[in-house]
Amino acid sequence: MNNQADDLRTAFEAAGQGHVFRWWDELGERSKRRLTRQLENVNLGRMAEMSNAMAELKQPKQRTLSPAPAFELSNEKFPYNLADGARAMAPQGEKELRDGRVGVLLVAGGQGTRLGFDGPKGCYKILPLTGMTLFEVFARKLQRIGREYGKTPPLYVMVGNHNEAETRNFWQDHDYFGLNPDDVKFFAQGEMPALDADGRFVMAGKDALFTGPDGHGGVVQALNDKGMLKDMRERGVRVISYIQVDNLQVPVADPAFIGLHLSEGAEVSLKVVRKEDPAERVGIFCHDEGVPCIVEYTEFSDEQANERDGNGRLRYWQGSIAVHLFSTDFLMRLVERGMDLPLHAAHKKVPHIDPDGNEVSPTEPNAWKFERFVFDVIPMASNVVCLEVPREEQFLPLKNADGPFGPDGARQSYQQYWGSAVEAALGKRPSAIEVDPLVAENARELIERLKESTAAKQWDLSKPLHITAKSF
Ligand code: UTP
Repeated sequence: MNNQADDLRTAFEAAGQGHVFRWWDELGERSKRRLTRQLENVNLGRMAEMSNAMAELKQPKQRTLSPAPAFELSNEKFPYNLADGARAMAPQGEKELRDGRVGVLLVAGGQGTRLGFDGPKGCYKILPLTGMTLFEVFARKLQRIGREYGKTPPLYVMVGNHNEAETRNFWQDHDYFGLNPDDVKFFAQGEMPALDADGRFVMAGKDALFTGPDGHGGVVQALNDKGMLKDMRERGVRVISYIQVDNLQVPVADPAFIGLHLSEGAEVSLKVVRKEDPAERVGIFCHDEGVPCIVEYTEFSDEQANERDGNGRLRYWQGSIAVHLFSTDFLMRLVERGMDLPLHAAHKKVPHIDPDGNEVSPTEPNAWKFERFVFDVIPMASNVVCLEVPREEQFLPLKNADGPFGPDGARQSYQQYWGSAVEAALGKRPSAIEVDPLVAENARELIERLKESTAAKQWDLSKPLHITAKSF
């Protein structure tokens, strides 16, 4: 054993983790190097944090909840309207886009276990007629912003170790879908080890710890570690538009939202949709002891989840859709002050090797995995703004293999929404529909375009309708 490995062994033994060296003597030189490299990157100082996360799961934090204010929709019926207060601020957001002060942050480092697709989720062919992938949808949405405001925001894509190469290759093979490659930056998020029932690191092999992505909340640290915050600073990016790769309908950079965020002097903003069903499994934006935060649905008592106001509407209605704006200065401040987001533990099935070196694929949860959640930045911000958006317009997540959030369900909801726009403008709903993201951001924009178009009046709506710029 060399000195470096000796030091590591001493440190791991002191932390009660000496078992990671169990097979050391039978490892070849390459395997030894691999294990050493991995162990060097494990922060043993985090052990206490991991124990706290497990303890919190067993004994959840006491909360004192109250509803939080939001800018509510001014028209709740299709094709909807955002709050007047937000729409009035759109010019400020548009100026920010024209001045090139907005960056788009797309997190795509998840494992997509529930979808069960063999590849990065962004490579999933989702649109109903052309099979356009999620990544291309976002690239085209960005191009539309670029054409409208004269500047295309830089795109920062967070990937995980497991999908980094495939994601980079996919974009390269598709010529960055027409975006400037200099304006598309990929960066890998961090990894966290898992702990078994005895609090020991789970081994994936004789020369490897099991590690998994550290959650979408890993984005704050990764942006800093991988030089992305610096890049944003150098480009003059003041506002970061955070979106998740699985939300097909999310605008990549929404001028009204950006304008509202700036005019309110917010450090973090979020979009919510109205929760109608008290049992819906969605995190709720509210106050805990007066501090804005997102609280998991599991932390609400039945009674709280069912509380209603004088109009019979849920008091805790603000379902978070994981769409945020962050001020660059705020994220810089967090990392400069070393303010980590809290770790959350989850009991999961983690494949591993047993003490005899045999591979085990558990059928029941056997280990604790750890992740950080991006919404935990909310209580750290000095000012937070919440904007209600129409659910069908901006929230269509691809999560599962089937059901409403599976590919078929998502395509159906997508066509329902855009079909309604065509019906509102042209009087008839097409049998199937796809709208090129370059054409319109939402139904309001499409309706306006269709009403002004003479070509549209000639369209054969008895056939599947693919609306592109050439259709007009
Ligand atoms: P989800 O929490 O839905 O997880 O991620 P997932 O990995 O996509 O799917 P499951 O749970 O394994 O089925 C929401 C968003 O956060 C990103 C995902 O890529 C997705 O855009 N994410 C999640 C990360 O970037 N990193 C993570 O560690 C976790």
